[in-house]
Amino acid sequence: MAQSTFFIPAINMMGEGCLESAVQSLAGYGYRRALIVTDAWLEQAGVAARVAGLLEKSGIASEIFAGAQPNPTIGNVEAGLARLRAAGCDCVVSLGGGSPHDCAKGIALVATNGGGIADYEGVDRSAKPQLPLIAINTTAGTASEMTRFCIITDESRHIKMAIVDRHVTPLLSVNDPLLMLAKPPALTAATGMDALTHAVEAYVSTAATPITDACALKAVSMIAANLRQAVADGQDVAAREAMAYAQFLAGMAFNNASLGYVHAMAHQLGGFYNLPHGVCNAVLLPHVEAFNAAVVPGRLADVAAAMGVAVAGASAADNAARCLAAIRELSAAIGIPAGLRELGVKPEDIPTLAANALKDACGLTNPRPADQAEIEGIFAAAL
Ligand SMILES: [Fe+2]
Repeated sequence: MAQSTFFIPAINMMGEGCLESAVQSLAGYGYRRALIVTDAWLEQAGVAARVAGLLEKSGIASEIFAGAQPNPTIGNVEAGLARLRAAGCDCVVSLGGGSPHDCAKGIALVATNGGGIADYEGVDRSAKPQLPLIAINTTAGTASEMTRFCIITDESRHIKMAIVDRHVTPLLSVNDPLLMLAKPPALTAATGMDALTHAVEAYVSTAATPITDACALKAVSMIAANLRQAVADGQDVAAREAMAYAQFLAGMAFNNASLGYVHAMAHQLGGFYNLPHGVCNAVLLPHVEAFNAAVVPGRLADVAAAMGVAVAGASAADNAARCLAAIRELSAAIGIPAGLRELGVKPEDIPTLAANALKDACGLTNPRPADQAEIEGIFAAAL
């Protein structure tokens, strides 16, 4: 087995009501002023002000920057960086789902390394650790609060840049399910399917290890058992908490085993049409895994077992087919669109999307290498 390195934040706080204890724990760190990076909705709902109040009690002043858009852009990072520098912040607190966390990582990385965020596209391009980042999660999906992945849209090139850098790993992650109750059903569904995609892509990845395998399969079984309920009743704290753990486990898996073509292709759809990441993944997942099934049927049969749909004694290929069917059934049950056409994807854009997908670093660990025509074929099948 090849060498492996396991990345995870130093401290990870989970469970009902952990937000307050997490912020209290910052009192001894010596920080003076934080930039709270969030989105417009969490600012308007008063959640950012609540976090600012908790920071104040720990002796940390703060500035709220609510400029992280869905699919955050280079412009968002630059605007936040200007606020951070003007206010003289010495740490960053991200509050939200993947978009605020990724925007905050971009800000915190450039704050210490200089230049622009586009300079760090690729793997481990920065020289220094970012400013300390405390990531408070409000969705169960991207796991950005605990990963070394930072996805920023280059609005001039209409692509999503993948910045995979050990230095963007947050210092402290916070997953308090009470912050997740307000998520609407469609967002719960999309982010939950993002987490499932992380687990499946990490499990079939060429960089999987026994550690990431354990995390991925546990994540799959928890998502299969809880996502429908979290979508059906957003106030079900037990289902929300299970999804928070599941997405964290899936994050542990893909943060270290990386991903595959689902993410490489979904990033292009997100960058080109500004579509929600989780929905793009959910639509593409069965199509990419159908392509992968030719080389990793046993791995997909394991996923089927974790989902509770494998049949004992059946062939790996048959159970892999059950895995794909179960993924489609789960998507349909929680209201995910059946195809990309419903999302506005145009057939004439497929060659460009496929060419860019092949340049995305996330595809490097897909178990079955594909060429331009094969990626185009997967996009076409997913229409
Ligand atoms: Fe993702």
